[in-house]
This record gives sequence, C-alpha cells and structure tokens, in this order.
Amino acid sequence: MRVLTFGLSLLLLAGASQTVLAADPDNGETLAKRWCTGCHVVSGDQSKGTDIAPSFSSIATRPNFDEDKLATFLLEPHPKMSNMALSREETKNLASFIALQKRP
Ligand code: HEC
Repeated sequence: MRVLTFGLSLLLLAGASQTVLAADPDNGETLAKRWCTGCHVVSGDQSKGTDIAPSFSSIATRPNFDEDKLATFLLEPHPKMSNMALSREETKNLASFIALQKRP
C-alpha cells in the first residue's frame, strides 16, 4: 500500500511540474489576440495594427531576442497598458507564441 501511494504521488508530481515547465504557445496566441492586437501586430494573419508598438515578428526577429527575458518583461505592465496583470504562466505562453512569430 505504501508503495502504491508513493508511486501515485510521484506521478502527480511529474504531472504538476510538467504544466509549470512547458509553455503553451496556443494559449499564448489566444491571450495575444485578446490583449495585444489593439496595439501590436501579433501574427501573420493580422493585417493591421498601429505604428506605436512593434510587431511581434519584429520583436522575435531581433538578434538579442530571449524568450525567458521576454516572459519576465511581460510580468511588468508596460507604460501604455497599465491595468493588465498577467500570471507567470501566461507570460511564458505569450513569450513562446511571440518566439514562433520569428521571420525565416
Ligand atoms: C495599449 C497599447 C498596447 C497594448 C494593448 C499592448 N502593448 Fe506592448 N507595447 C506598446 C507600446 C506603445 C510599446 C513600445 C513602447 C515601449 O517600449 O514601451 C510596446 C512594447 C512591447 C514590447 C517590447 C518591445 C521592445 O521594444 O522591446 C513587448 C514585448 C510587448 N509590447 C508585448 C505586448 C504583449 C505581449 C501584449 C499583450 C499581452 C501587449 N504588448 C499589449 C503598447 C501596447
């Protein structure tokens, strides 16, 4: 019985750490389309954005682009979008979605 309980908690642990570690770009896309399209061009199928904010593909294409740094950056609201609070997981998902917008 003890062995079984131990095995089960190992399984649970493995499952839990996976959801924490793996970023989900599909969820990032949903978030980006909900929160960011007002100012940024977030993906190739969005034809119009504004000039005030850089497109996600231009951000991802920068030579010093770093997905982890971006996720951390997104934890802080940026100037013109003060009331948006994203969770750790949401910023990771957004960053991994933005990384996928990199131009070939
Ligand atoms: C109300 C307009 C607005 C919205 C909404 C908005 N942004 Fe921005 N964002 C800006 C502006 C303007 C800049 C450029 C000025 C600056 O760096 O502060 C910027 C800059 C950025 C940068 C940094 C680019 C750089 O130069 O390094 C990132 C990354 C970014 N936005 C991501 C996001 C994400 C992700 C969302 C949605 C969750 C979002 N933004 C929503 C206006 C917006």
